[in-house]
Amino acid sequence: MAEPMIAASGLTRVYATQAGDVAGVREASFRIEEGHLVLLKGASGSGKSTLLSLLAGLDTPTSGILRVAGRDLTTAGQAELTEYRRRVVGIVFQSFNLMPTMTVLENVCLPALLAGEALPRVRERAKNHLEWLGLSRRAAHLPEELSGGEMQRTAIARALINDPPVILADEPTGNLDSASGRTVTEYLAQLASRFGRTVVIATHGALADHLADRVLTITDGVVSEGACGAS
Ligand SMILES: Nc1ncnc2c1ncn2[C@@H]1O[C@H](COP(=O)(O)OP(=O)(O)OP(=O)(O)O)[C@@H](O)[C@H]1O
Ligand SMILES: [Mg+2]
Repeated sequence: MAEPMIAASGLTRVYATQAGDVAGVREASFRIEEGHLVLLKGASGSGKSTLLSLLAGLDTPTSGILRVAGRDLTTAGQAELTEYRRRVVGIVFQSFNLMPTMTVLENVCLPALLAGEALPRVRERAKNHLEWLGLSRRAAHLPEELSGGEMQRTAIARALINDPPVILADEPTGNLDSASGRTVTEYLAQLASRFGRTVVIATHGALADHLADRVLTITDGVVSEGACGAS
């Protein structure tokens, strides 16, 4: 059997705090297949963002094994993690995290320029992504001139610019009204269903439920298969 896009085994992240150790994620073992849309559900404080940070290479596990796209993130050094964040994962945050002084097109191009690519090629790709996301008319606008849904679609275009196989989204619709949230969710789902990306969305909401290939539930840092409370 081919290696899954994401494989975690005994994955644990413990935060050492003055009040004692807090386990963000405990002994998580799961596999996510290429091209799947997987929802990560759980109450506030259950460990969703901790797990996404590990998958994003923004944080390193305390113990356990994590492999993404054939790379071992447990043993990766800083240079390798930087390369991983550039090439393997695209990240979408609840708060969009766009650069306020840069236009939509510039925001989308930035990660590829930072990776050393030449502007003309990057700009073409960025324009294609913006067109797909219905943002062509917004390319020259600043983020503050956009609606929340447009900001998040810009963030999706930015996450795609280096052509990563994995897209991670942490509460991507948390700051959006329900109509914009639905649109953003549908674009994220299409990344999996049409374009074969592996998409992991952490969310409290039910907007993506009908589009997901799988749901993982996290309770006090423990990951389990299926929707919590589902029969
Ligand atoms: N940097 C940190 N230092 C100490 N504890 C932390 C840190 N980050 C998270 N935690 C703890 O780890 C647990 C999981 O937090 P996490 O942010 O992953 O939850 P979450 O499921 O994303 O919650 P929310 O739905 O509110 O975003 C919580 O108990 C939290 O207090
Ligand atoms: Mg969170």
